[in-house]
Amino acid sequence: MANRKYIVGNWKMNGLNDQLSDIADIASIAANHPSVDAAICPPVTLIASAVSQNAAFSIGAQDCHFNEKGAHTGCVSAAMIKQAGASFSILGHSERRADQHETDADVKAKAEAVHANGLGAIICVGETEEERDAGQAVDVVCGQLQGSFPNGADAKWLTIAYEPVWAIGTGRVPEAADVEEMHAAIRQKLGELMGDGADAVRILYGGSMNGGNAAELLAVPNVDGGLVGGASLTAEKFGPIIEAAA
Ligand code: G3H
Repeated sequence: MANRKYIVGNWKMNGLNDQLSDIADIASIAANHPSVDAAICPPVTLIASAVSQNAAFSIGAQDCHFNEKGAHTGCVSAAMIKQAGASFSILGHSERRADQHETDADVKAKAEAVHANGLGAIICVGETEEERDAGQAVDVVCGQLQGSFPNGADAKWLTIAYEPVWAIGTGRVPEAADVEEMHAAIRQKLGELMGDGADAVRILYGGSMNGGNAAELLAVPNVDGGLVGGASLTAEKFGPIIEAAA
């Protein structure tokens, strides 16, 4: 049986208080498409307000630390994002792997921390253009998945997002056949890592998804949804993606 589609907007470092109205507009569209699970991950500063203004809509975080507390200036823990109202967190986004030098082991520890706090996790994996050109894409992505894979993984709280680094924010999207190959490889790897429960783990595609290409991408086998950056910032752009998933 096909998994429910999951459409997640990652606002990255975008969003001030006056953009809370965009989340409300997106939540309204989501409410009209109950067959789709939709969510927005605003910057951490907006989580509490977004949750209080949109009680029925799922709000996530973009990251958290793997430790419970301590001397980690500028970081937030899983318990903190939970207290703010987030129900899950994106983890291991390629921008954090590159900019903050996050390792697979860090991502694994973060996933275990969010699970210990009763939250969901979206673990991101993806190859660079150089790795794809060298024919290493599947090996790189499956290696990241294995290294980042948390103990106690279960589809109830774990989602994987495949995001080719070269497709993020570039307007470039892989061929459908390449997306299909990668998602099938991730599904197979999940089977090796967790056995029978693997089919229920949702695998999202991310990288320049928009209202014009969402339907085609979401029709690819093993694509259970999208992780959307730029096209998630307004209801005008994000709404058609939710509609394409319905
Ligand atoms: O987390 C979202 C992805 O990095 C995709 O971003 O849709 O702006 O390419 P994008």
